[in-house]
Amino acid sequence: MDRIYKILFSLTFSFLCLGIACAEDGSSLWLRYTSLDKTQVSSDTHSPTIAIARSELEHYGTLSSVKLVIDKGLPSEGFRIQAKGDGAEIRASQDIGLLYGAYALLRQQQTSGIRNLRSAPRFSLRLLNHWDNLDGSVERGYAGKSLWKWEEIDGQARKMSRGVEQRVVQYCRANASLGINGSVLNNVNASPKILSPAYLDKVAVLAAAMRPYGIRTFLSINFASPMALGETDTADPLDSRVQQWWSSKVSEIYARIPDFGGFLVKANSEGQPGPGDYGRTHADGANMLAAALEPYGGIVMWRSFVYGANHKGEDRVKQAVSEFLPMDGQFRRNVILQSKNGPLDFQPREPYAPIFDNIRQTPQMVEFQITQEYLGQSKHLVYLAPMWKEFFRFVSPHRLVGVAGVANIGDDPNYCGHPFSQANWYAFGRLSWDPSLSSACISQEWLMQTFSREEHFVASLSQLMEGSREDCVDYMMPLGLHHIFKFDHHYGPEPDGFRADYPIEWCPVYYHKADAQGIGFERSAKGTDAVAQYRRPYRKRYDSLRKCPKEYLLWFHHVDWDHPMRNGKTLWENLVAHYDRGVSQVKGYRSVWQQFESLVDSQRWQEVDHLLELQYRNAQEWREVCLGYWQKMKGE
Ligand code: GCU
Repeated sequence: MDRIYKILFSLTFSFLCLGIACAEDGSSLWLRYTSLDKTQVSSDTHSPTIAIARSELEHYGTLSSVKLVIDKGLPSEGFRIQAKGDGAEIRASQDIGLLYGAYALLRQQQTSGIRNLRSAPRFSLRLLNHWDNLDGSVERGYAGKSLWKWEEIDGQARKMSRGVEQRVVQYCRANASLGINGSVLNNVNASPKILSPAYLDKVAVLAAAMRPYGIRTFLSINFASPMALGETDTADPLDSRVQQWWSSKVSEIYARIPDFGGFLVKANSEGQPGPGDYGRTHADGANMLAAALEPYGGIVMWRSFVYGANHKGEDRVKQAVSEFLPMDGQFRRNVILQSKNGPLDFQPREPYAPIFDNIRQTPQMVEFQITQEYLGQSKHLVYLAPMWKEFFRFVSPHRLVGVAGVANIGDDPNYCGHPFSQANWYAFGRLSWDPSLSSACISQEWLMQTFSREEHFVASLSQLMEGSREDCVDYMMPLGLHHIFKFDHHYGPEPDGFRADYPIEWCPVYYHKADAQGIGFERSAKGTDAVAQYRRPYRKRYDSLRKCPKEYLLWFHHVDWDHPMRNGKTLWENLVAHYDRGVSQVKGYRSVWQQFESLVDSQRWQEVDHLLELQYRNAQEWREVCLGYWQKMKGE
């Protein structure tokens, strides 16, 4: 080749490489390791999982050597890191523990520096719940379409294309780096088709990709599947043909996926079929599925998010306890009751769900929502770890066998939509491994790995993130207000929301009950007595207008507009102050972010800058629309 062409070629090539190295579209998530190919990794055992641990450490480690050792004395899935000179040893009782240890070592490398560490997960089930539909859409998903590409199934093309595989592998790496060990692949509003052979083949392909990363596959099922697929004429759980159908379906699944985890079920809720359609109980339904799964070690996660069926007219937030308490003790051993953190529906703030106090004999899991359905979706920077930490202040992790998070992941280049929404996936994983970690510690780790280790940047952004959930509560629904969202899509305020053709439990006016006298939902003993479902001391505290914490005030009480609050100001003055505070906080986000333009790559910097402006405008809209409406209600 002509010399000049050679130079031009090599220049273009290096620019291209530079371009690739510097292009930051967020697709690397928090795994932005530099490839060094420096570390010698040794291990006496071999498996696909250990091969991944080796390769991650060999490529991205900074130490000269790392030894991987199986040590049966360590707790299940846990690991131990010991620094040794310019090397380290990772020990674990299983190969997945070695992989978790390898990622922990890489995290240390990017954050605190290598140090000795012993770690084991608090919960045995740490699952993402994907609300992915078979047409590729994602319910309450704000980051593109499903990663699973269900729509690519056309009878024979059951293999994932190369591109998809890489995205799925990156998803697996990210989860394993946090210790997430299960994935429910499809929407709780499940299509019966997921259980047909073509889809199960695809599920098996995904399961094979996830397996070496320690991620077990689960499916959401539609309770009426056998009937909907035209194979029975009933879905009655006590009918032996139905039971037989589920048993053989389960064996068909395990033939493809020997480590299949089990089923997640939304039954008799929001129009989904369930055992109630045949006069049977949730226990009857769950037990039928549990019996089919039991021989294989599979579990049923039965959701308690049930309202409007057997308890019409009862305060919606009471219905889960009313429905499930009488059944406690009737479930088979491999049934777990899965409940949202609050008794309503993933609001910016709810008191904890009292079902966690009431159910004593059935194992329970909490369901958090990582996708920000009610917290600004992928347009607002709202860091959710403080909200989840708040839940654990009331519900001890010891009461739970697992944690589920409704995923915020889609096929957008950065997986999560808003660059800062990645922090919620990250925080969910870290807290489901160790709920005692502080939310600030998690955000700092995440910032260092995702953006920059510069001290001032990490301190400022971590502080901003830490307050962002409270700011969101303030500009959307302060003092215990809830569910004032626009219909259906839930982005933006609609305090006058009422539709006669909708269940009343979907209408904002049902929740705030604003009138000339005051605002709020009376759930004390004087009202619906929802407080009675709480354990002491909360029951008494929430019941009392004087003692009720102000963040739950309008959740539990209908309060006069001019009611004097502890700070000497009226309720109305306090409401206005909260809305103002929320909006002015968000206004400040942008000035913080603008100080760091030089530290962040331009694509992500601009994206965040633009989104912060949108968030500010939406926060203003919340304040204006809500205060305007409350004023009208007050008669001003
Ligand atoms: C919310 C959400 C629905 C979802 C439901 C559930 O109501 O808006 O999209 O299906 O929760 O958790 O089942």
